[in-house]
Amino acid sequence: MFRIAVMVSGGGTNLQAIIDRVADNTIKDVEIALVVSNNEGVYALERAKDANIKGVVVSPKDYANRDEFNKALLKTVDDAKVDLIVLAGFLVVIPEAMIDAYQNRIINIHPSLIPSFCGTGYYGLKVHEAALARGVKYSGATVHFVDKGTDTGPIILQKPVEVKEGDSPKELQQRIMEEAEWKLLPQAIDMIAHNKIEVVDNKVVHKN
Ligand code: GAR
Repeated sequence: MFRIAVMVSGGGTNLQAIIDRVADNTIKDVEIALVVSNNEGVYALERAKDANIKGVVVSPKDYANRDEFNKALLKTVDDAKVDLIVLAGFLVVIPEAMIDAYQNRIINIHPSLIPSFCGTGYYGLKVHEAALARGVKYSGATVHFVDKGTDTGPIILQKPVEVKEGDSPKELQQRIMEEAEWKLLPQAIDMIAHNKIEVVDNKVVHKN
């Protein structure tokens, strides 16, 4: 079994998409070994519980400083012995030590077509507010490997989604989730679990 940890901060609809695709066997031979949240009481933890998946909270509030929190986060994931870490709406900066230890084994879903509307300060609804303010006709979602920059790692999958006139940030967010995010993230996990891709010169390519 290919073991994954899913890291969350909020509602967990992307986590749910992964749970559902594992359950209906679209993603084969993958086990969600652990769900980690930095926030207590988020709905993503309920989703994990309902699916009989171990959920833990590692919150910065419970540690004396950032370094202690970072160490705890890394230990939590190390102890679960996972092959891949999936950031599914995890709004915490990943510790450098974790990126070093899990090179090309951490992926993130971002709700825009990178390199648009990404980087520091672009998360959740803010991404969609910026896309609407710029007046783009298409936005979308991107799954990428995580490196030491913010949203700068090799791109695995992208899908464009049409922006409709009069969209609110929430309406655009919902359409991008439904049409892109909930499909791309399970698909990327499946590709990695079955060894279909590799990173060459900082780009993702399909293996022969
Ligand atoms: C998703 O739209 C995800 O792309 C975004 O947060 C949302 C989490 O929703 N992530 C980022 O903005 C990362 N920069 P969810 O908890 O329902 O999956």
